[in-house]
Amino acid sequence: MPSRRQFVAENERLPDHNHVLLITTGSVASIKAPLIVSELLQYQNVKVEVVASKSSLAFFKVEDIESLGVRVWTDEDEWTGSFEIGNPILHIELRRWADLVLVAPCSANTLSKLAHGLCDNLPTSLLRALAPTTPTYVFPAMNTLMYEHPLTAEHLRVVREVVKYEVVGPIGKALACGDIGMGAMTEWKNIVKIVAEKLQLLKKGQE
Ligand SMILES: Cc1cc2nc3c(=O)[nH]c(=O)nc-3n(C[C@H](O)[C@H](O)[C@H](O)COP(=O)(O)O)c2cc1C
Repeated sequence: MPSRRQFVAENERLPDHNHVLLITTGSVASIKAPLIVSELLQYQNVKVEVVASKSSLAFFKVEDIESLGVRVWTDEDEWTGSFEIGNPILHIELRRWADLVLVAPCSANTLSKLAHGLCDNLPTSLLRALAPTTPTYVFPAMNTLMYEHPLTAEHLRVVREVVKYEVVGPIGKALACGDIGMGAMTEWKNIVKIVAEKLQLLKKGQE
């Protein structure tokens, strides 16, 4: 059933707030999305929106994020089945809204799409339309052999050097698939720390 929710950046941006957009993709590490959102909300003057790829929805419950007062946007919200001139376009409105973008986790598939400029879903359309001045952090997370595939190094190089996103991780540990090695997403608490340092956020209750 197509969604009818609308999002207009100028109505959603709050003065003196930091607007953090979390993109989740189809890696098991998307399981951490509710934790990342909940920790971001421990800081003062932070607003969060989540954009989820279809595959990433297998790894967390939308209700676990929406119960924190944060919306989860998907392709169904972008493609409502009808469009008239003047209607807000979701991927454009979300990129206008965002002060900082996290792709956490970034699957091998989405990484490849970013390196090639593909934009066939809400996360990649939004990223393709993003101003180059918006800080964008990519946290790859994939099976060790996916990570060691020769194309991954090339995609990471393009995303770093041509697209100029900050790539953080992956890290080595026992992966959800049972393999041990490189490929895990940077620890979720460290992802939030990167945001807090970049935006100079203060925890709630701190002066
Ligand atoms: C249970 C399961 C776990 C997966 N874990 C990963 C993963 O950790 N990293 C990854 O790159 N792909 C993983 N995949 C494959 C991606 O979900 C798949 O390539 C998908 O097309 C990614 O789409 P997206 O990039 O649009 O989210 C997994 C697939 C399944 C079924």
